[in-house]
Formats: sequence, C-alpha cells, structure tokens
Amino acid sequence: MTERLSRNRASIAHRLRYAARNPDRIAPYARRLARDTWLRLRARDHVAYYRAVMRSDAARSPYGAVGTADHDHWLAIGRLQFDYLLSHGLKPSHRMLEIGCGNLRAGHLFIGHLEPGHYYGVDISPDILFAAQETVTRNGLQDRLPHLTPVRDLRLAFLPEGHFDVIHAHSVFSHSPPEVIDECLAHVDRLLAPDGFFDFTFNRTTGREHHVLREDFYYRTESLTALAEKHGLTARLMDDWEKNPHKQSKLRVTRPAPNGG
Ligand SMILES: C[S@@+](CC[C@H](N)C(=O)[O-])C[C@H]1O[C@@H](n2cnc3c(N)ncnc32)[C@H](O)[C@@H]1O
Repeated sequence: MTERLSRNRASIAHRLRYAARNPDRIAPYARRLARDTWLRLRARDHVAYYRAVMRSDAARSPYGAVGTADHDHWLAIGRLQFDYLLSHGLKPSHRMLEIGCGNLRAGHLFIGHLEPGHYYGVDISPDILFAAQETVTRNGLQDRLPHLTPVRDLRLAFLPEGHFDVIHAHSVFSHSPPEVIDECLAHVDRLLAPDGFFDFTFNRTTGREHHVLREDFYYRTESLTALAEKHGLTARLMDDWEKNPHKQSKLRVTRPAPNGG
C-alpha cells in the first residue's frame, strides 16, 4: 500500500520497469500517447482536451470510457459508490448533484433511489451523456426524470443556491488538473444545502504530485485539503472508504462547524 501510494507513474524509471513487466501494454500505450498528444495540441484548455478524450473513448465503448473493463465491473463500481452513500444516510428525499456522472454507472442506482427530479448529473462530455440516456432507458428510469446536463466548466452558475444535500464526484478529480478542482471548490459551497456535503475521489500519492498523459492526476491529501480551506471549506479523508478495494481515496468537503466546534 505504502509503495503504491508513493509511486511516481510519470517517472522514466517507473515507465521502464512497467514496460519490462508488461511488454504487451507498450503498443497500446504508444497509441494512447500519440492520440492524446494530437488531441492536446488541438484543444484550447484541459476541459476541451478531456472532452475529446471522452469522445474518442466513448465511441469505442462507454464502459471503457468510464474506466471499467466490462458490464459486470461497471455494475460493481456503481454499486460500491451507491452502497457507500446509502450507509452514510442518503435518503430518497435528498437532492443530489453528480459531477462527471458519465454513463450513470452509479447514477442509475441513485436515480432509482431518489424521488423523481432529485438527481442532477452534469458532465463535460455530450457523448457520454448520450450513453447516460441509454442507461436511463435500459433501466426503465424515465419516470424518475433525471436531469442530465452538459457543462463547459465547474462554476455551475446555472444551478440554484443551497439546493443539494449531496454532491458526488467519483473518478473525476483523478482526471483533473489543479485549476479544475480549484474552480469546483470555489463554487460548490453556493450549491450545498445547510447540512450538505461534497464527496470526491482522487488518486492519492504520498510522494511527488504528478500526472500521466494529463489523463490521470495524483495528489497529496494535504494539497487538496489546503485547496478546500482556501475556499472556506473543511475536507477530511474518509477512512471507511479506504477499507474497500477501490484504488482511489475519498475526501468529504463540508462547511466548517460554527465556532470551530
Ligand atoms: C472515469 S469517468 C467516471 C464517471 C462516473 N463518475 C462513474 O463513476 O462512472 C469520469 C467522468 O468525468 C467527466 N469529467 C471529467 N472532467 C470533468 C469536469 N471538469 N467536469 C465535469 N465532468 C468531468 C468525464 O467526461 C467522465 O464522464
């Protein structure tokens, strides 16, 4: 665990060791490197770049685009997210915003659980939102009237103040540079209901912060906690999430208790 957390996947030494251990992955990695370089050169910023990555990935497979190998794995990762929030008190009456909802891996379970109209999913990728609509149809969730909205940024200015009891972002900041996370943390407070919270997962490192192909970003917990503090929010690492087999860690962001209590 400790070795995994301190590993720098961007270092030449790591890449050479990885290639020696996984020779079959060299060609796919080279193809990804070429594609990502091309997409990055044509994009004006990170969001435009990542939207293009999602377009390319979703055209091949919406399951693969959200990081799962097949439908069973997709279901399992969705269930993991859902069971966790259920065990933390998610009620049908709650209003939920899912940032980077993808093709509703967990979203289809949230939508089924929440009262009609109480689920709001946003994503930068219109292509994955088309796949999300298919998930709604396949699961017979039309009557739940989920909102599925494309966004250009995470200022989320079009959403109402104090509206959401739970804001959730799974495997989104693991693909986001610091300025995207900063923007989200600067605006999320406005959207939270008085006792609301914002949970997000991230790739945790105890070593040097780094990224791979500007697709996967690795952060120290302290950096993200400090970023939340900069915006007047409190962030804590969710230890109970660490017990499950998922590779990412989870932070919960709330408003500080009054009088620091
Ligand atoms: C790995 S997928 C995870 C999707 C979903 N959260 C899940 O668990 O299945 C990451 C998703 O986040 C979206 N995304 C990435 N950066 C984003 C951003 N800055 N704002 C909104 N969505 C974003 C991607 O388009 C993609 O659908």
